[in-house]
Amino acid sequence: MYNTVTKAFRDYYGHAHTIAAYAPGRVEVLGNHTDYNEGYALSAAISYGTYFLVSPAEDSTCRLVAGDLMAEVSCDIQSPRRVTENTWANYVLGVLAGLQARGHTPTGFNAMFLGNIPLGAGLSSSAALEICSGLALSHLYDIAVDRLEMARIGQKAEHEYAGVKCGLLDQVSSLFGEDNALVMIDFRSLETQSLAVGSDAAFLMCNTKAKHALVDGEYNERREHCEAAAAFFNEVLPHPVTALRDVSWAEWESHASAMDPLTARRAAHPIGESERVLAGRALLDSGDLEGFGRLMFESHDSSVNYFENSCAELDTIVAAAKGIPGVLGARLSGGGFGGSVVALIHPRDAETVSHAIQTVFKRAHGHLCDVAVLVPSSGARLIKD
Ligand code: GLA
Repeated sequence: MYNTVTKAFRDYYGHAHTIAAYAPGRVEVLGNHTDYNEGYALSAAISYGTYFLVSPAEDSTCRLVAGDLMAEVSCDIQSPRRVTENTWANYVLGVLAGLQARGHTPTGFNAMFLGNIPLGAGLSSSAALEICSGLALSHLYDIAVDRLEMARIGQKAEHEYAGVKCGLLDQVSSLFGEDNALVMIDFRSLETQSLAVGSDAAFLMCNTKAKHALVDGEYNERREHCEAAAAFFNEVLPHPVTALRDVSWAEWESHASAMDPLTARRAAHPIGESERVLAGRALLDSGDLEGFGRLMFESHDSSVNYFENSCAELDTIVAAAKGIPGVLGARLSGGGFGGSVVALIHPRDAETVSHAIQTVFKRAHGHLCDVAVLVPSSGARLIKD
């Protein structure tokens, strides 16, 4: 893919790029909607990602080409405003605005990006684009940005240019991923820790290709409920609550009946998820993959029962997975309402499990889902030719 985009860049602009960066997508393994609640998550960068190539322009024009569509969006470097057509450009324009808040961008640029992360699959193709463009452009303009700051720039682009009030999971995972390891993220301290995944474990991505309408609105609404719940607990608990991270499952159980029922259900999910992540880390440390897999199934049930961010297509796969020999656990990964299921399996079972999932899915929904093995991979980087 790198060779393809290098050549396409040269053909399009008539000269070679000067800087290239790569950022991977991510899979969320445990810890759903915990990030903006300052909880914990376990994720991995994956071996699908996006390249961003750039060279400085002689004038103030920024030209940005989506290499898969060969569509161009241009703007003046001083006004990277949000666009309403070719909205893929917003992720880069938002990042550019974020960089401009931190440093000087005297000239325009010629840029092109190309990736292989399936779109809408819940594997964070948008975060990958933010991060690879952020790395390349910060290098082009010599603006010093550390990895956490880069993650925040990407997040702000999502908030202000794409309208999704996301947390930091996607950007941090793309930046801090490591080969054959999960990234454990504490979203309060923003510390990350790498947890090696033994050769006995593999992850399957099952992309339903379902994307339901109003997803962004649903996401933002979930976040609002979580914030309202945190404010409630801050009133009733004897200790301060600034986010649902500060509320234990036991505290939720003893106060849920006094809450607005919908807000209580929404709050249950991230609270339970953070506790599952902590339990899951201990199980991984002791090599208990079966136990870890059970937590993944519990996570999905919590999505269905409390957060209502699943959908029929995701539920088909998880329900089937519970009965397929060789599947240790399965759950929806990412925002929800469509996208992918991630399943934990032993590598030797990849083919039979994939086939079994495909068969059940096709019978239920009339088309195949895409199934692929995900390999935990290293995070975003500049490419040195
Ligand atoms: C999306 C968001 C993330 C996170 C997940 C759910 O991927 O972009 O910030 O909230 O959903 O865990």
